[in-house]
Order: sequence, then structure tokens, then C-alpha cells
Amino acid sequence: MNNLFYIGEQFIGYKKYKIIVFLGIKIKFGVKPKAIEGTNNKILIKTSNGIKSLNEKQVRNLNIGIRVSGSDNIIELDESIIKNGKNFNIDVSGKENKVRIDYISSISGNIEVSGNKHVVEFDKSNSLYNWIYVVCGCTNAGNENCHLKIGENCACGGLSIFLFQSNTSIIIGKECMFAAEIIMQSNDGHKIFKNSTGELLNQKPYKIEIGNHVWVGRRASILKDAKVPSNSIIGYNAVVTGKFEEENVVLAGIPAKIIKHDINWDIDNAF
Ligand SMILES: CC(C)(COP(=O)(O)OP(=O)(O)OC[C@H]1O[C@@H](n2cnc3c(N)ncnc32)[C@H](O)[C@@H]1OP(=O)(O)O)[C@@H](O)C(=O)NCCC(=O)NCCS
Repeated sequence: MNNLFYIGEQFIGYKKYKIIVFLGIKIKFGVKPKAIEGTNNKILIKTSNGIKSLNEKQVRNLNIGIRVSGSDNIIELDESIIKNGKNFNIDVSGKENKVRIDYISSISGNIEVSGNKHVVEFDKSNSLYNWIYVVCGCTNAGNENCHLKIGENCACGGLSIFLFQSNTSIIIGKECMFAAEIIMQSNDGHKIFKNSTGELLNQKPYKIEIGNHVWVGRRASILKDAKVPSNSIIGYNAVVTGKFEEENVVLAGIPAKIIKHDINWDIDNAF
């Protein structure tokens, strides 16, 4: 930069600024990032008349965030998100990622995808109140092929979902109910080795599976490779680490164990 005259843009930390230097006097303006950057990224909106692609200005006018960089990423949103959504904020970077969100009655929160070829899907009629926070890839831009799917008619009070190891997935069935302060993560986050041989112990293509009609209690955590059968309840503060096959059970404790068999629950029967 010339000390006397300069016009340009610079990142300072994570924020972008326009810098103007005139006769050595420096003026700095914050630059709002574009809603779509990179190449061949598509924001699609699904309406009753079909699917249409939005340009930068139209995306900005949605006023729900969305900042895509990288290339060949697709974000497909149902128009209900614009009508009903609050504080929505999607931020995708990398390439060939896909985020598809069908009808949602209310949501606030983040979906951040970095890395490549991740798929994040929300089926129709989800009532996601308060917040949902989804991260794929995390700071490792080389991560790829993570898959999150939330089935239709799920309700949520507060759920953080992390998939930050390649080839891991979280597949949630339909009609599930998530209380608040729940964490699901498809992997450990750091490598664990066998000390004597150096063998890598925790880098498998882990999959969390939640069946249909599962009620996840407040503060529950669901860790890598857990399987929760349909029509089950996960108790307050449980840590689910294993695979459970028997349906209609209550799982509770750390690590979670079956504490009751032959139960069912009803979302309408709130006290
Ligand atoms: C899991 C839960 C639904 C089970 O209720 P329940 O079937 O009536 O269970 P009980 O109260 O009869 O408890 C059965 C046993 O499990 C134990 N237990 C119950 N919930 C537990 C939990 N969250 N963690 C560890 N143990 C638990 C009880 O201490 C009891 O043990 P005991 O037989 O040694 O005395 C309930 O305890 C719970 O966690 N509720 C909170 C749900 C929630 O987070 N709601 C948020 C709003 S949606």
C-alpha cells in the first residue's frame, strides 16, 4: 500500500473493509459481505409455481442472511422460510455442497457448511423454534461427504448438530421432538491413536440414527454411532453412545441405558 494514496479492500481479522488513503489520511469503511460469492453457486426458492433461482440482489432482499462462497453449491429453500423465518443465517463455503430446507414453520439459527459435498436436508413441516445450529466441516475445509437429514414433522427447542469428520452422517426420522440444550455430534473432533502401534482408532464413517417419533429430553447428548430406536424417549441429561435396537424404550443416564421397556409418548399430551 502506498502511504499517501490507496483505494482498496482488505480483511482485518474476519471483517472486510474498504480502505481509502488520501494524502496519508486513512479512512476505513466496513464492507457488508455479498450474499452470494464464488462461482456457479445457486440459491433456489421453491414456491407453489415451481423452483426459481435468485440473483445476488434478490437473495439480499430476503433479509435472512445466506452467504455462499466457493463453487457449485446449491441452497434450496421453501418460500415458507422467507415468510416465517427469523434470524436465519446460512453460510456455505467449499464446493458441491447442498442445503435443502422444505417447509418450516419457524426457525432461527445457523447452518454453516464448509468443506465439500456435504448434504444438509430438512424435510417438510418442521417446527424448529428457538434455534438450531448445524455445522459441517468445521474449520477443516478438506472435510467432505457429511450428511444430515431431519425427517418431516419434527419439533425442536434447541439443538446443536456437529458433523466435522468426513463421511459421517446424522439421520433423524420423522415426528421427533427435541427439547432444548441438546447436542449431537457425529464424531469426536480429534484423532485418537493406539499408543503402542499408532493405529488410528476413531476415524470411521460414523452414523447417528434416530428413528421415528423419538422424544429427546433436555440437555441430552447423542454421540458418534449412536442408534436410537423409534417411539423411544431419551431422558434429561442422558449421554447416548451405543446402538439400541429395541423400540418403545426409555434411555437415560451416562452412558444411557434402557430404564423402561414398552413405553410410548404423545406430543399433544403436554402437561
Ligand atoms: C426420562 C424420563 C422421561 C423418564 O420418566 P419415567 O419413565 O417417569 O421414569 P421414572 O421417574 O419412573 O424413573 C425410572 C428410573 O429411572 C431413573 N431416571 C429417570 N430419569 C432419569 C434421567 N434423566 N437420568 C438418569 N436416571 C433417570 C429414575 O431415577 C428411576 O430410577 P430407580 O428405578 O432406580 O428409582 C424423565 O425422567 C425425564 O428425564 N424427563 C425430562 C424430559 C425432558 O427433558 N423434558 C423437557 C421438555 S420437552
